[in-house]
Amino acid sequence: MNINKICCIGAGYVGGPTMAVIAQKCPHIKVTVVDVNQARIAAWNDKDLTKLPVYEPGLDKIVSEARNRNLFFSTEVEKAIDEAQMIFISVNTPTKTYGKGKGMAADLKYIELCARQIANVATSDKIVVEKSTLPVRTASAIKDILDNTGKGNIKFQILSNPEFLAEGTAVSDLINPDRVLIGGETTPEGQQAITALSEVYANWVPKERILTTNVWSSELSKLTANAFLAQRVSSINALSELCEKTGANVDEVAKAIGMDSRIGPKFLKSSVGFGGSCFQKDILNLVYIAKTYGLNEVANYWEQVIIMNDHQKRRFAHNIIKTLYNTVADKKIAFLGWAFKKDTNDTRESAAIYVADELLSEQSNIAVYDPKVVSQQMYSDLDYLNTRSSEDNRKGLTTYSNPYEACKDAHAIAILTEWDEFKTYDWQKIYDHMQKPAFVFDGRGLLDKNKLKEIGFVYYRIGEGE
Ligand code: UDX
Ligand code: UDX
Repeated sequence: MNINKICCIGAGYVGGPTMAVIAQKCPHIKVTVVDVNQARIAAWNDKDLTKLPVYEPGLDKIVSEARNRNLFFSTEVEKAIDEAQMIFISVNTPTKTYGKGKGMAADLKYIELCARQIANVATSDKIVVEKSTLPVRTASAIKDILDNTGKGNIKFQILSNPEFLAEGTAVSDLINPDRVLIGGETTPEGQQAITALSEVYANWVPKERILTTNVWSSELSKLTANAFLAQRVSSINALSELCEKTGANVDEVAKAIGMDSRIGPKFLKSSVGFGGSCFQKDILNLVYIAKTYGLNEVANYWEQVIIMNDHQKRRFAHNIIKTLYNTVADKKIAFLGWAFKKDTNDTRESAAIYVADELLSEQSNIAVYDPKVVSQQMYSDLDYLNTRSSEDNRKGLTTYSNPYEACKDAHAIAILTEWDEFKTYDWQKIYDHMQKPAFVFDGRGLLDKNKLKEIGFVYYRIGEGE
């Protein structure tokens, strides 16, 4: 089948950038991204490209090239579904907050809603592509709904095509992916659907990087990839605590082991803990699936990755408290960074939220500066934890649009996100306006230790022993 009309349900961090790149690379395909959230669609359509709902380096250029040429953002979900030959489902699949599997399983209610909507609206055959990360065997549930709800003579093929893009580098990950994974049924119809999607990607991805598997392998590979990546971060973070006790330096250890080509250098940066919308959710999901099958050892093994990560965030906060003479009450602590990593405005599961929560419980005053995160987002992140009233969160945390103001009169600065601009600041000036002794807690191993020590800072770098 020659695909010339694609629809994507969900204009979020995954759907938006992915479709923008498909549209840019395939001018012969009309790509319509739909979302129930009107404000989000309006933002994707805003003439002012700085208002796009997702900040990704390079994305504005791609959107401006393809938008209203063959890339459209719309709230007319049904129309777009009916028109398209291929429909991507890219809605969010958060961890369930209620009922069976609460706190662990993926909440599939939006996926199911999409499947029912597609079934109700479709008047021609469709290839439905799972872009959202889903528990293994979700495709069969989607197929059940489509086959039983749809008008009898319409045929649906389900493909799994997980997205491996990382935020902050979404555009280059999409343009130059390590691999594109497509899982489909082993039937001739399934294979045809796989070919149709492969041909879309083949417009810019070399054929040898397009990997095809059965549906279940594809679904499980996505969870596994994220679990392995998160495991590396938790592994190096576990060692960071030992480094601090023994006088080793975690960056040196990471470099030494990373030069072993079997281990490799990536994802070995010790940090205040991983965040983002995927790692924790996908591991919890994996743990839940393993438990469902009675595989308790498997479940416990992977759960440790999360336990270690929670420990790292708490440990960072407790170290600040202990170092500031066991009391941070009424002390101003400046946070540089709130996003879960640099080059994104996304704060989902960001370590900063949890560190702030611990410090607010000790009644400190937190002053936050982040180059991309708006203050409203910071408050809603804290409110979501439900630790204290939203009024108390607003009293305890103040946001700044100027980093020097955020640090003025502070007792300590905590580096929570590795934004490059932090390295370029006039640290002497910051030091001159702080309380003394002036502490820096570098949760990202970002700053130049010697330079800061020379200025007079007491510098604590995660994973570095004395
Ligand atoms: C993605 C993936 O889809 C998810 O599986 C992965 O694990 C995390 O990343 P993401 O794009 O980050 O999700 O989610 P989000 O930015 O929340 O976007 C989802 C969009 O879907 C939202 O804009 C929401 O309004 C929309 N949506 C949700 C619909 O249009 N219809 C629905 O029924 C539900
Ligand atoms: C991740 C996967 O990388 C991506 O393939 C998948 O599609 C979605 O989930 P993302 O969450 O955007 O992407 O960011 P990633 O770069 O993987 O970082 C996740 C977290 O781990 C961040 O908080 C980051 O700061 C942290 N991290 C990463 C470390 O602490 N140390 C490292 O060495 C690497």
